[in-house]
Formats: sequence, structure tokens, C-alpha cells
Amino acid sequence: MPINTKFIKELKRIRPIVATTAYDSIISKLADDAGVDILLVGDSVGTTQLGFDSTIHVSLEMMIHHTAAVSRICPNALVVSDLPFGYSYDEYDVIFHACRELIQKGGCSAVKIEGGVELAPTVKRLVDSGIPVLGHIGLLPQQIKNLGGYRKFGKTEMESESLINDASALEKAGCFAIIGEMIEPDLSKRITSSIGVPLIGIGSGPYCDGQILVSNDLLGFSIQKTPSFVKRFGTISNEVSTAFEAYKKAVLERTFPHE
Ligand code: KIV
Repeated sequence: MPINTKFIKELKRIRPIVATTAYDSIISKLADDAGVDILLVGDSVGTTQLGFDSTIHVSLEMMIHHTAAVSRICPNALVVSDLPFGYSYDEYDVIFHACRELIQKGGCSAVKIEGGVELAPTVKRLVDSGIPVLGHIGLLPQQIKNLGGYRKFGKTEMESESLINDASALEKAGCFAIIGEMIEPDLSKRITSSIGVPLIGIGSGPYCDGQILVSNDLLGFSIQKTPSFVKRFGTISNEVSTAFEAYKKAVLERTFPHE
């Protein structure tokens, strides 16, 4: 049975949720075969695959293109696609249209949107219209121009209260789960126990209901600096370099192809 949002919600009380990002068919198939629960077609596609320096350059068309590549393998995992940069919370119809395109043309089952309390009324309308929403609080990469850089969230009591309110508002609005990025571990523990839907952490410590890592980071398949919280579970870049060097050598030395 393909994983649905109801199942993800129920996992909160059963076992940790395993999530990663995916942008193409091959990585999606391999992650799916390994039993990952959620494949997020993140707007991190901009930095991991498309050579941009941040996610704000990623368009809806790019998201649809990559979401369709992931959905096409018909994974068992829940495919979630990111609403890219540039959608104002006030323009409900525009947001609804974008989410509909991601679902109808991209083939995903849910949409992830960055934001807290201010986003909750929009989430409620989307969920009421049949669009499942994965929340995203803490560090919001699409706000990087306002933030001025990456940092941990929840160091002060005021910021902690505000993040707890964000999580609670998103739960009430109908999010089936929430991603918490770069949240102080003690605070992510508080949030995890204060909401009824799963908090899936990234750089937020061990006390969340699940974890998500960018696939290129966890695979060691990246040409960028990886965040300090990342654990590399593979060294794919080394293997790719070795294979290309061996191919080049074989062609130059005429040992490939054989007659
Ligand atoms: O775009 C992305 O990959 C994300 C993850 C960091 C959660 O939003």
C-alpha cells in the first residue's frame, strides 16, 4: 500500500519517520526501495542540482519537472513537493493554483509550505480544498534574504514561544506533519510533545518524531559545503570521480572499447 498522509500522522506514536529529499527518478527509486517513508522534492533542487546559490531562484515549472520525475517511478513513499519562493500568503488563489499544478502535473500527494502562524489560515483553506500540507517552521530557507544567514532557532524564550505557537497553529489548520529546521534540541523536544502531528527534524536534534536530510548530503554526493549537523552515510562523490577518471584513462589509452 502506498504511504499516505494518514499513515504518516499515525507513525508519531509508533516509530520515527524516515524522510529524505529526491529530485530525479534514480535516487527516488533507490530511496523508495530502501523503505524511506517520505520523498520530499525540495526546492533545495536549486542548490543541489541546478547550480543556484539559494532556493529563491527555483520556479514552479522547475518544481513540477522534478516532482514528475520522482512521481513517475510510482514510489511507495509519500511524495511531497515544495511550494517555491515568491508566493505571498495573501494571494490564496495563486497559492491554490500552484499547489494544484504540483499535484496534477507533478503527481505529488502533498505540498510543503514554509511559514508559521501567518500561514495557518491559508493552510486551512488548502486542506479544506483537499490539498494535504506539510508545514515547515524554524529556519525558512526562502527567507534567507531577510535572515541574512543560516542560524539555530529557539535560543530565546520569546523565539521559543513563537515557534510553539507556529507549530500549534499549523496543526490546528490541518497540517499532517511539520518539518522543524535548525531548532534547538530542547525546544524541538517541547514542540514534539506539545503537538499531535509529527515534527520531522532537520538539524533539530534527536527528540523529533522523525528526521529528514537532503539526499545529496547524506549520500556524500555534493559539490557544496554540507551543514555541520549532517551525517554522511555514503561517499558517492568519490566513487563517481573514480569512475570518470577510469573511463577517461581507458579512452585515452585505447583500452576501451575492445574490438
Ligand atoms: O528544500 C528542502 O530540501 C527542504 C528540506 C531542507 C527540509 O526544505
